[in-house]
Amino acid sequence: MAYPFQITSVEQYKEYYKKSIESPELFWDEIARNFHWKKKWETVLEWNFTEPRVRWFEGAKLNITENCIDRHLETAAQRTAIIWEPNDPSEAVRLITYDDLHKNVCTAARMLKNLGVNKGDRVCIYMGMVPELVFTVLACARIGAIHSVIFGGFSAQSIADRIQDAQATFFITCDGAFRGEKTIPLKSIADEALTLTDSVKKVIVFRRTNSQIEMKAGRDVWWHEAMNEAEQQLSAEGSISFPAEEMDAEDPLFILYTSGSTGKPKGVVHTCGGYMVWTTFTFVNVFQYNPGDIHFCTADIGWITGHSYIVYGPLCAGATVLMFEGIPTWPDAGRLWDIVQKHRVNILYTAPTAIRSLMTFGTSPFQEKDLSSLKVLGSVGEPINEEAWHWFSEHAGNNQCPLADTWWQTETGGIMISNLAGITPSRPAWATLPLPGVQPVLVDENGNEVITPDENGYLKGNLCIKAPWPGILRTTWGDHERCRKNYFATYKNLYFTGDGAWKDAEGNYRITGRVDDVLNVSGHRIGTAEVENAINQHPAIVESAVVGFPHDIKGQGIYAFVVREPQSVSSRPDEDATRNEIVQTVARIIGPIAKPDKIQFVSGLPKTRSGKIMRRILRKIAEGDTSNLGDTTTLLDPSVVDEIKKGRL
Ligand code: WT7
Repeated sequence: MAYPFQITSVEQYKEYYKKSIESPELFWDEIARNFHWKKKWETVLEWNFTEPRVRWFEGAKLNITENCIDRHLETAAQRTAIIWEPNDPSEAVRLITYDDLHKNVCTAARMLKNLGVNKGDRVCIYMGMVPELVFTVLACARIGAIHSVIFGGFSAQSIADRIQDAQATFFITCDGAFRGEKTIPLKSIADEALTLTDSVKKVIVFRRTNSQIEMKAGRDVWWHEAMNEAEQQLSAEGSISFPAEEMDAEDPLFILYTSGSTGKPKGVVHTCGGYMVWTTFTFVNVFQYNPGDIHFCTADIGWITGHSYIVYGPLCAGATVLMFEGIPTWPDAGRLWDIVQKHRVNILYTAPTAIRSLMTFGTSPFQEKDLSSLKVLGSVGEPINEEAWHWFSEHAGNNQCPLADTWWQTETGGIMISNLAGITPSRPAWATLPLPGVQPVLVDENGNEVITPDENGYLKGNLCIKAPWPGILRTTWGDHERCRKNYFATYKNLYFTGDGAWKDAEGNYRITGRVDDVLNVSGHRIGTAEVENAINQHPAIVESAVVGFPHDIKGQGIYAFVVREPQSVSSRPDEDATRNEIVQTVARIIGPIAKPDKIQFVSGLPKTRSGKIMRRILRKIAEGDTSNLGDTTTLLDPSVVDEIKKGRL
């Protein structure tokens, strides 16, 4: 057994699960002992879901980076921590040992200190997928600064909103990022964002693409120069290490913004102790990681999947992770398989949208690829359809590798419902069983537990969780009330996930998708209200309503129903020109990921007498299911519905 908390049989899973529910404090006390703490906790768990207030390992002191790095130095300093595969396969791979990681993180920590970053300060990180991104994240954690990583696909306005909300004082970026054949001008996007806010004092720029950029005197510094200086200081002091700040278990570790059903993204806050225990425990058990295995997670560190299963979980477990800068379809659709073959990857964790996009290229990209190193496959981000499940199992896994369908959220910090690879049974399109410590419950609209199975024997309802697990979010940055309202107020004493689910008689869960006004586009969460707000910024637009529709590759596409100003309708007969401008407006305000796929101009939206848009009807029309629109008697003007049906794209 590789890890003291590794579950190695179904019986052991059941035993662990039972204990975790009957005596959670005892259970997590024993798991947490396997980590390095500077001081032990006084209480394991204290909680109520009404405020909400959740405290894990109260009184304990730690620094997560000592668990990610220092702890492995004695026995595994020369083990590879990160294998970095560049965007362009002809460029050299970088291998970073735990020793190298230690040096780089300590130097970066020193650099941040030199620039004036202190414990508790918020540091925005807007970088491509380069190892320096991991160094920066861990350097923040080392000195107790709170990182807020922003995905490289977000626009200047979205960055500015996140800087503003967190009142970030430091910003770390790259000149640019390579992504397939494109170069993303990160620094110039950042410059624009920084004109919209004023809290940032210093900007550090890592040179990656050699793009022409402007460095603002007094504000911007080059990474390589500042790192050089820090390195010299460390060596002059005769030290290779930089001390790790002593953090309370409940001190914030990071903020990660995610979309909700209303307005602006919320800053989900995770704390040091519980998040560390949860990501490591779930990493080892779900993927059945064994020392020496090579774990390849294709996510970007700009999302929670990258935080938890590229950085914190694997590194705390002393794993070797493969970090990929590029995209699965460039230079060709065999790129992932080339990487698997080249580095003898053992675990491949990816998203249904990537699988579906690769499916369109057929099986020729697999020809002459040796994928025999693969032992475990994983999927995350959205419900995986059976076709994609089978295709992935067959062509990547040669029908020999267990596939873990992992359901979780930014807010849950780590995997919540999943089969444990090769230990508990998998089932196509089903996430299956809850991890130890997770108590799901399905409720109806009134919050009553669903207890009557349907004709197929399934319970169907809204997915809630009854009690805290160590990785649960603690708050939303700067607005605890928002956290309460969003997650803990819909149903009394329950955490509400926003997802619908089914449960079978054996206790397996199938997640069916969001039940709130949140879309899941290519595994990325996008709030309909956010897209509507962006569309409405276009001067010719009166109002809009955004819903999802089934999309072959993205899972859900974005369908916008848009009402134009009467003058613009008559003066701009070229509808496509306006459509194009709307798409550009959304890309400018949110980012390219939120661009609508379809824009239908309508003369009015279906509204109730009280003025509420009836999205249910629009959703049905967008899905192409117009035969039965349900009850339309409460509509103010039922005639708009016929017009919208006729004009459907
Ligand atoms: C939402 C969370 C968790 C990291 C990536 C997304 C959907 C996620 C699954 C799955 C069905 C899934 C849910 C969830 N989702 N994984 N295996 N099966 N649905 O994180 O952006 O916080 O989105 O993604 O709808 O609520 P996120």
